[in-house]
Amino acid sequence: MRGLSQRVQAMKPSATVAVNARALELRRQGVDLVALTAGEPDFDTPEHVKEAARRALLAGKTKYAPPAGIPELREALAEKFRRENGLGVKPEETLVTVGGKQALFNLFQAILDPGDEVIVLAPYWVSYPEMVRFAGGVPVEVETRPEEGFIPDPERVQRAITPRTKALVVNSPNNPTGAVYPKEVLEALARLALEHDFYLVSDEIYEHLIYEGEHFSPGTLAPEHTITVNGAAKAFAMTGWRIGYACGPKAVIQAMANVSSQSTTSPDTIAQWATLEALTNRESSQAFIAMAREAYRRRRDLLLSGLASLGLKAVRPSGAFYVLLDTSPFAPDEIRAAERLLEAGVAVVPGTDFAAYGHVRLSYATSEAQLQKALERFAEALSRAQV
Ligand SMILES: Cc1ncc(COP(=O)(O)O)c(C=O)c1O
Repeated sequence: MRGLSQRVQAMKPSATVAVNARALELRRQGVDLVALTAGEPDFDTPEHVKEAARRALLAGKTKYAPPAGIPELREALAEKFRRENGLGVKPEETLVTVGGKQALFNLFQAILDPGDEVIVLAPYWVSYPEMVRFAGGVPVEVETRPEEGFIPDPERVQRAITPRTKALVVNSPNNPTGAVYPKEVLEALARLALEHDFYLVSDEIYEHLIYEGEHFSPGTLAPEHTITVNGAAKAFAMTGWRIGYACGPKAVIQAMANVSSQSTTSPDTIAQWATLEALTNRESSQAFIAMAREAYRRRRDLLLSGLASLGLKAVRPSGAFYVLLDTSPFAPDEIRAAERLLEAGVAVVPGTDFAAYGHVRLSYATSEAQLQKALERFAEALSRAQV
């Protein structure tokens, strides 16, 4: 019989990608829209990284790479994880992937059997539950609450653990809440992984974008249980280059590389050489990250004070570049609120697919002028909602 697999029919396309595509299409048609939808830096990739790609291209580095990545980059990754994250990994315990997304996708394919449970902290990044289900697993939601700053409660997590729990996903700094988890909370979650012998999946892709607090890698406490996922996209404004990376127990990393070898073969070779430059030319990269972080901090502060002066509620994010806005003043639910805001000329992502009901996600990875315009339009939408 012809048709689509049940597996793929059960998969929802990414809401964030869809909403962003719609906003770009409306703009292309000439609609004057402020898009607060994108999950990507608005900066261009740093020049020294582009230059490394040019050099690689001219040197003919245009062939297949090994499935786990070019050895030079894996060595640089081992060094990066050691220096920046305190993780004592060897190059063979690292892996290069097509974005952080493929690292997570391969990981769930590598560790899940049908019916295995994966605890995800809600609100969550939209792809975790879909990837878990696609691998035959069952996502188990544990809520984090706005009144607790969206910081997970380890006791609540503990109550969700069953004999089928295979993994817990943590993402700090967090998409979509912007929460940066305190070290003690991450330590408590790492202890749960050790006690109950499940994997801790630590998605650290926003590690450099922290405005208050400090980054902590829980893999330092549970190295045999943790797979740390990261990537070049957010730190180095390299979303389109599609380079992600991971480190963890060798057997898991090898299994993830096997999934790559039968699907994508390897990530783009030229992009790997460019990423090597981003990781090893520390002076230029750190200057870029510091510049971007300062810009995001200013934008966050502008957006938060603007929202507060309109009487709108949002939990103050300490990292990443997102804010969850409470939509109750606009409409009875977040989908209608997103529609009203779109009518007012601001594209946002409804929280529904993040399990952030009653909220929309705003990305402040856009210029201060655009944020100012968005705030004016929020005011208009509010006055319309109140008549
Ligand atoms: C929390 C989180 N993890 C992973 C990714 C994957 O990023 P990429 O595949 O572009 O490296 C994203 C991108 O939006 C993200 O927000």
